[in-house]
Amino acid sequence: MTETNVVREVSLPFVSELNEMAPRDFISFFLKNKNEIDSKLISCGAVKFSGVCIESLEDFQLIVDSISSKFLSYVDGNSPRTKLSQNVYTSTEFDQTQRITMHNEFSYSSRWPNKLFFSCIKPADTGGETLLVDSREVLIKMDKSIVAEIEKRGIMYIRNLHGGMGIGIGPSWQETFETNDKNDVESYCRACNMDFEWTNGGNLKLRQRRRGIIEHRISGEKVWFNQIDQFHPYHLEEEIYETMKSVYYSSDDFPTYVTFGDGRIISENIVAEITNTINELTIAPIWKENELLLVDNELVGHGRNPFTGVRRVLVAMSE
Ligand SMILES: [Fe+2]
Repeated sequence: MTETNVVREVSLPFVSELNEMAPRDFISFFLKNKNEIDSKLISCGAVKFSGVCIESLEDFQLIVDSISSKFLSYVDGNSPRTKLSQNVYTSTEFDQTQRITMHNEFSYSSRWPNKLFFSCIKPADTGGETLLVDSREVLIKMDKSIVAEIEKRGIMYIRNLHGGMGIGIGPSWQETFETNDKNDVESYCRACNMDFEWTNGGNLKLRQRRRGIIEHRISGEKVWFNQIDQFHPYHLEEEIYETMKSVYYSSDDFPTYVTFGDGRIISENIVAEITNTINELTIAPIWKENELLLVDNELVGHGRNPFTGVRRVLVAMSE
């Protein structure tokens, strides 16, 4: 881990206003100012470039391919999205009437992207903001007893993926791992230190133990880095949560669930406290066209407001 003198800035995101810069001009600008941009990213957690002419998937692809490398696929992702090209996905296609709770991408996994790139090709009629929250602030403001419990016990993420065939809630294991071959899934799980179990009806149960609070890879600052409130069904509408409790034999069989790393229950009160703390710190910058948002995934959590109309946001993830 490198030691750096990080000067914290309050503004999230840092905004760089450019003047209708064509993609190739933006690439030159970015590469020329890369050191300064990297340091802004580490101090602010996110940098938004406005005035970058990104009108198509091809523009976005060209930019991200030129300013970053080592892209990650969305294999093992927990949200529906479409792969548009080699490194570019749609942002989540999750029900547009619902808010997507705050999370650090792939924080339930042993491998996660360091940087996320977003651009809004078509803003929604209303809502649809990509929500942002500073994960350092979340850790500072979080109830100290919750932080202590996570640091002591870690977190266990549980997923139950159905086997396709049109039944089951959430994505199938085939969609999640982009394969129909169980051997591929098992190899992936072993490589990612994930326990797997094929259960009745061709379903797949996954368990992943993670720390939940980590040190930033460059600055060493401690950050809140988990998806407790997203994996716990308490965040769902009360009616849906109550139905799930009556349908499933055990909470262990919910599509997603989370406990402390030693199996101890994370109470609904704790989930509520976590959610409230995060929501109090969350901001909702409005999307405009011709913007590129660069997010440090370890420093900033993200989510999405519900929206009306058609919204098209492109995403790429890199190391
Ligand atoms: Fe996400």
